[in-house]
Amino acid sequence: MTNLGTYELLNLAQRAGAQAAEHIRQSRYGKDLEIQTKSSPTDMVTKVDKETETIIKEILLGARPRDGFLGEESDEVTSTEITWVVDPIDGTTNFVYGFPVFAVSIAARDSSGTTLAGLVIDVYHDDHFYATLEGGSFLNNRSISVSNTISLSQALVSTGFSYDRATRVAQANTLTHLIGEVRDIRRAGAASLDLCYLAAARIDGYYEIGLWPWDYEAGTLIVREAGGVVASLDSDQPRQELTLAGNPAIFKELRELLLASGLTI
Ligand code: IPD
Ligand code: CA
Ligand code: CA
Repeated sequence: MTNLGTYELLNLAQRAGAQAAEHIRQSRYGKDLEIQTKSSPTDMVTKVDKETETIIKEILLGARPRDGFLGEESDEVTSTEITWVVDPIDGTTNFVYGFPVFAVSIAARDSSGTTLAGLVIDVYHDDHFYATLEGGSFLNNRSISVSNTISLSQALVSTGFSYDRATRVAQANTLTHLIGEVRDIRRAGAASLDLCYLAAARIDGYYEIGLWPWDYEAGTLIVREAGGVVASLDSDQPRQELTLAGNPAIFKELRELLLASGLTI
């Protein structure tokens, strides 16, 4: 696809994302959210998650009816053309509590699986992080790059925890191997924003087990276009088993430390 084509995809994502973010802002935080649970008693979904995904899906597929759609809250639409990968609210727990770290995440991938455009909107702050393939990464029209921290001992590293009790206990165990080796740890609560914070040098590294494509697809392009690395332990692509990311200088050290901690996937 031409650069013009990827910008058109980004523009459409911006249109859908802006309306989605406005809908989330208009919703009353913490009230009448019709909270239900999904994979575990701590895994919440609200009516705002579902409404927001519907808004995004209608705008994207309304403009491009032949495209596919992979969203967290609705049935997949398959396509041989562009597929939109969408998390309507990444950070639902934060949204429910009014903890101001939650996002709309929209990515467009082609039929070979290459991500062409990615947008993550920090809804509370109305910060728009975005990238197009080979077009660089931006935060509100300003070009962004990953940090230049060169040592893991000086690195601020973010992570997250699964909704599954046994998995999060194992994740906490892995963390005990890291906490003494890094500057500090953050758990912001929205994977897409963890990746964008890495792209904007607000942190130096990030890893998480158990993410889905809608959590990491847009953020991965934004990190890579900002000069960072996103991969897994045994592959150069993030996977559900592990999303591992960092600036290029600390990425290898972080990977080795995770391997030394006994993490396997
Ligand atoms: C969650 C957030 C969280 C991460 C979880 C995700 P959701 O997404 O990204 O930071 O730790 O693994 O499931 O459920 O709020 O869309
Ligand atoms: Ca998510
Ligand atoms: Ca979500």
